Amino acid sequence: MSFVVNEIMSYQFLTTTREGGVEYLTLNRPDVRNAFNEQVIAELSAWAAATRALAPGVVRAVVLAGAGKMFCAGADITWMSKTVQYTETENMRDAEAMSRMFAALNELPMPLIGRIHGAALGGGAGLAAVCDIVAADEGAVFGFTEVKLGILPAVISPFALAKIGRSAARELFLTGARFSAARAKEIGLVHAVVPAADLDATVASYVREIVSAGPEAVAAAKSLIPQVWGRPIEDVMPITAAAIAARRVSAEGQEGLRAFLEKRAPRWSEDTKDTKGTKDTKGQIS
Ligand code: COA
Repeated sequence: MSFVVNEIMSYQFLTTTREGGVEYLTLNRPDVRNAFNEQVIAELSAWAAATRALAPGVVRAVVLAGAGKMFCAGADITWMSKTVQYTETENMRDAEAMSRMFAALNELPMPLIGRIHGAALGGGAGLAAVCDIVAADEGAVFGFTEVKLGILPAVISPFALAKIGRSAARELFLTGARFSAARAKEIGLVHAVVPAADLDATVASYVREIVSAGPEAVAAAKSLIPQVWGRPIEDVMPITAAAIAARRVSAEGQEGLRAFLEKRAPRWSEDTKDTKGTKDTKGQIS
């Protein structure tokens, strides 16, 4: 993998824009429906590393979208077919790079919001699974379609399973069947399904909710979930108690509690007034 990110972070297959504290990250390979090959994987990994390295609060939320007709058609089938010429070691190296990319997106310190239009298939559905929040256009099609190609949804399975659970995975991984946005919502892969015309407003509503909350609190809430999920209460009690105790006495926690009692906006909301999400008030989160 030879891709090197330069200092101004220019990419071949990604576009990024930052408005206020919100980063808009767009997969930009529309000719092949934003399918990802090794270059896209390298670029997404580099973007995730650079974003993680930013000072806390610089990016409060990320919106992940796809350019052109659809969100993402998954791994690049042309690239995968060529891997027959790779050695087993090279194949393992490539698969691990893809796995690390999904993990890096999954573990971003700030909320990742998926904006899904058209289709999210194979690894595209995997990208939806690593988003904290997903809004989809009602016509979008989803699918863990790998078995139709004689392969399987391996690398994305931990992230997809965490979202959709075992039962839905047993049906959808084994059939490879395509399914609707409504079904995706039913199984927990998607949180809001709206007409295409309302998709941006819905995403903006989520952004607005996030940037109106305490920045450190949001990051702490995100990091708490994987620490607690699936573990016995007795084991996690020290973690949850320490988490709330730390937030209560923090400057941000004190400011948020005082602002409520004094019936005023918390000071952090001053920093985020000019984000795209705070200006647009059309969307509704139901
Ligand atoms: N990898 C590589 N190329 C892909 C691709 C993928 N995952 N998905 C689509 N493409 C390419 C097509 O080969 C086609 O290339 P061409 O113009 O050189 O013929 C181009 O993207 C447009 O695809 P097309 O099928 O003509 O567009 P569409 O809008 O009618 O349908 C999809 C788009 C995504 C629904 C359809 O292409 C599809 O089902 N792709 C496979 C998705 C899949 O199974 N992904 C799992 C991968 S693990």
